[in-house]
Amino acid sequence: MKTPKNSTKSPDLSNLYKTDAQIKSLYQQIYNSNKTPGVGWSVADTKLSADNRHLHTSAVIGVALGDEGKGRTIVNLIEQYLNNSEIKRVIVVRFQGGNNAGHSLETGGVKWAQHQVPSGIHKKNVYGLMDAGMVVHPEDLMHECNLIETVTGISLNGKLAVSRDAILCTDLERAKEVLNRYLSEGAKGGTGRGIGPAYAGHYDRQGLHIFDLLAQDWQAKLTKKYETLAAVFKAFEMDLSKTEVPDFYQSKAQKKSVTRQLGQLQEFLARLKQARDYLTTKNLIVNTFVRHLEYAQDKHTAILFEGSQSVGLDAWLGTYPDVTASNTTLYGIQSGTKFWLQSQVYHRLGVIKATYTSSVGQRRMLTQVDLPFPVADSSTFTTEQNWAEYVRIEAHEFGTTTQRPRDILHLDLGFVGYNAFMGGIEALVVTHMDIAREDEPLLVCWSYQDKSGNIVPYQPGLEYQTDLKPVYVELPSWNGALVTSAKTPSELPLNALRYLAFIQAVTNIPIVALTTGPAEHDYLTFPGYF
Ligand code: IMP
Repeated sequence: MKTPKNSTKSPDLSNLYKTDAQIKSLYQQIYNSNKTPGVGWSVADTKLSADNRHLHTSAVIGVALGDEGKGRTIVNLIEQYLNNSEIKRVIVVRFQGGNNAGHSLETGGVKWAQHQVPSGIHKKNVYGLMDAGMVVHPEDLMHECNLIETVTGISLNGKLAVSRDAILCTDLERAKEVLNRYLSEGAKGGTGRGIGPAYAGHYDRQGLHIFDLLAQDWQAKLTKKYETLAAVFKAFEMDLSKTEVPDFYQSKAQKKSVTRQLGQLQEFLARLKQARDYLTTKNLIVNTFVRHLEYAQDKHTAILFEGSQSVGLDAWLGTYPDVTASNTTLYGIQSGTKFWLQSQVYHRLGVIKATYTSSVGQRRMLTQVDLPFPVADSSTFTTEQNWAEYVRIEAHEFGTTTQRPRDILHLDLGFVGYNAFMGGIEALVVTHMDIAREDEPLLVCWSYQDKSGNIVPYQPGLEYQTDLKPVYVELPSWNGALVTSAKTPSELPLNALRYLAFIQAVTNIPIVALTTGPAEHDYLTFPGYF
């Protein structure tokens, strides 16, 4: 990645990172000066403004409903950074979410998915940091690491680090999700990975963290948790030990969602012990704060903050109740790393799919196309359903984590624009630009119409979307294959360029990069930003 010419100011807290000798010399300068030292805001050297940005940092945040191609974008950005001779290593930091995320990756024809481990870790000079804002499931992490090592042939030793402060997620949190579903009669489902209960435990000050798992008394703490939850289950005439929870290892092996019984206390503890031993022998657990101190001072290190889920799934800004439990925006970086301010991040990138949006969950968005699954008789399909069916198959829109077919929606620029603005985004990366058929115009929503015919904008909260109709503009499409073969932006089909210019004009956010096909090198950047 090229070095931007403007703004090279380092973080304003840099004096805190000085050595003892430097601090003493700083004081000596003040002490020896003939002038009366100035004190107060007007003389402080602290400016929390745009020029507070730390040069080699980027954030990648989804600005639709997840699965936009963030993992892929991270991999492309890594390449850009490593092409800059000044950069010697890239750290990819996950700051929220857990293994509810699923990033599909592909290199040299080999495909696999990552859930907790930061994207791009298979690359040379790339390191992954699972930071304090994450919920970490140790057993699944162990299996995921083994899987990555087997598939890629790369050892993760020394490449991956997990924060001591990350929130501990166990099968107990997954069982709680099962209980929640039972109590709410199946409504408001999550991915079943225990994400909501793990964050809820943290907010309720009942949660355990990775440091608790490392402590001497870990078995006593987890036994208490198990027994308390078993008593709650019993009160509902349910048996905790027989509760079915997702089995990551078997799901991967059998390539479909597989569950297993949680088991008796001793089995539960034995599984955790195995994972605990793995994490400690691999030396995975670290104090991430001191790592960040080191990275912040090293001008040869680039830092990529990898968002999971997306602003449309944010606990507060998203499509409640179908939201996840964490802060998925750029602002989540602060609490999720306990070190970086969002205002220090140099490139603030949002990711969307170009020609459509996909959605997983029970929400029903206004631009969604009703599409049955499995398809019994496609001969009765409307034009819209035909298009959505083509998209689902061509772009393989099935959950990476759950294998569920995803809903297909027309792109909604009001929704995207709102998410980008609230998410702290300044530039867009547009993926899946090759998912287009020349003879099939694209419907793009830019606003809604109420019952009286008035045009109303997108508003957060599904509550406000009742009785509204999306207002579409129909845009000419292009041949997707010509997008994939384009080697520069100017080689893109004219209609594709017009389409991008339209998105940019409506959202007022520049589009700075594009993925043009499934392979890693199917990636173009527009001049002027990087
Ligand atoms: P949870 O994060 O497992 O609690 O799930 C809450 C909601 O967020 C559900 O509707 C999930 O389908 C959705 N969700 C969570 N993670 C992702 C993701 O990575 N992509 C798409 N949807 C997700």
